[in-house]
Amino acid sequence: MNWLQIKWNSIHTKLLTTYLLLITLASSLMAGYILWSFYDYFIETRRVEMQNWSRALTESVADALEENNRERVQLLVQRYGAVETITIRVFNTKGQLEATSNPKQDSKVKNWMEVPGVRVALEKQEAHGVAKGVLSNDDRLFSAQPIVRKSKLLGALRTSISLQQFQRQFAIIKWTVLGTLGFTLIVCTLISERLARNLSRPIQTMKNFAIRLGNGHFGEKLQIRKKSNELDQLALELNRMSERLASLDQERRAFLANVSHELRTPISNVLVTVEALRNGAATDPTVSDRFFQNVENETKRLSRLINDLLDLGRLEAGVTLLEKQSILLSPLIARAVRTVETRMQKLQISTQVNIAELQIQGDSERLLQVFLNLLDNAIKHSPPNSHICITGYREGKQAVVKISDQGEGIKDNDLPHIFEQFYTGDRSRKGQGVGLGLAIAKRIIETHGGSINVSSKVGTGSTFTINLLLEK
Ligand SMILES: Nc1ncnc2c1ncn2[C@@H]1O[C@H](COP(=O)(O)OP(=O)(O)OP(=O)(O)O)[C@@H](O)[C@H]1O
Ligand SMILES: [Mg+2]
Repeated sequence: MNWLQIKWNSIHTKLLTTYLLLITLASSLMAGYILWSFYDYFIETRRVEMQNWSRALTESVADALEENNRERVQLLVQRYGAVETITIRVFNTKGQLEATSNPKQDSKVKNWMEVPGVRVALEKQEAHGVAKGVLSNDDRLFSAQPIVRKSKLLGALRTSISLQQFQRQFAIIKWTVLGTLGFTLIVCTLISERLARNLSRPIQTMKNFAIRLGNGHFGEKLQIRKKSNELDQLALELNRMSERLASLDQERRAFLANVSHELRTPISNVLVTVEALRNGAATDPTVSDRFFQNVENETKRLSRLINDLLDLGRLEAGVTLLEKQSILLSPLIARAVRTVETRMQKLQISTQVNIAELQIQGDSERLLQVFLNLLDNAIKHSPPNSHICITGYREGKQAVVKISDQGEGIKDNDLPHIFEQFYTGDRSRKGQGVGLGLAIAKRIIETHGGSINVSSKVGTGSTFTINLLLEK
């Protein structure tokens, strides 16, 4: 039952049925029309021929009847009639047979008025049509004419010809046409089957492919021969989807691995330190101090990491709703600089801040986080006695903020990746950061409808540029 259902509902069956129905309908109509018009043409031509001919004969018979020359009537009828195929009969005004080309058979007929055309002709009207033979059972084309002289009815003349010969020929033609029709249908079925299969096979393949994708087989690819029709384009899109899913899957795995790694390190540090403290390190005040400091640092790092991860998760999922309000950028940036001031003083790093009056719509706490992350990076990578320069200006409808440092710069092969989660350029300098700062900054700026870019030269420094839409 199930199998049948699938079979009948399949695109292949539906296409094939549609093709066949259309072909059958079209070719049957055509064959029917050809046969009908051929039949009609033949009958009509014969009828006209016979009518003309029997009108002429009627004239000759009328002459003979007028002279009351019955032998001549009989002679005329005999001469033009032919056994079986052409029958000519002359009736008197009462509908009795006067002369016939087939006397042997006609003697058996009693009532001639019942024979099609005779009564009509005796009412002075012409009649014609197809009827069964008077005594035989074959179809015959007949024509009946009144014999009239000087408005006086002298009788009627009825001619009929057998259609047997024609019907035999017509049957041959009919079977030939039907045969051709059958043959055409078979050929068309084969072609339709191929066409339907050509269309349904890729759909079937793509369906299986989509099922495999759904089951988690990312990264597989469909074979595409040519990129021409919609199905090929669909396959192309499926391939792209598969690729994208594979890379997302890869990212997810990498993310999880990074998260667990980054969480494990501070936790195991704390555990080791606590164990050392319990085993007696606490008795030495200098050592215990350092150990407690260590525990505090690691816990702080852990807490920051967890906060960053939560932030990033919310931003990625689009859960974080921005508390947008009208803000001026210069006080916000001044706040960020104040926050890192002591750290910079310690490292003897100075700042130059030059911000025009730029008003934007945004979430001030989130944007502060962006500036803090960028400043944190700048400080981390700046040598002592260097400058960090922050400028802000208007460019068309955009507010542009640039944060430049004179640090070591970013290597060309790191440059395209620094905004990725957990990407840290210099792997040897462990403990500096986990590589989430820029990823968070980028997400926040993008949620604001802006963009963030970097340009950097190794040995000279890096410049991060933020573009945001101005409020007015
Ligand atoms: N101003 C800069 N100068 C040189 N390199 C930089 C600068 N800013 C970022 N980078 C490079 O980009 C990487 C990614 O920066 P990001 O802020 O995302 O991570 P992080 O600073 O290492 O860690 P986190 O910010 O999470 O503490 C850094 O590891 C560093 O290699
Ligand atoms: Mg950072």
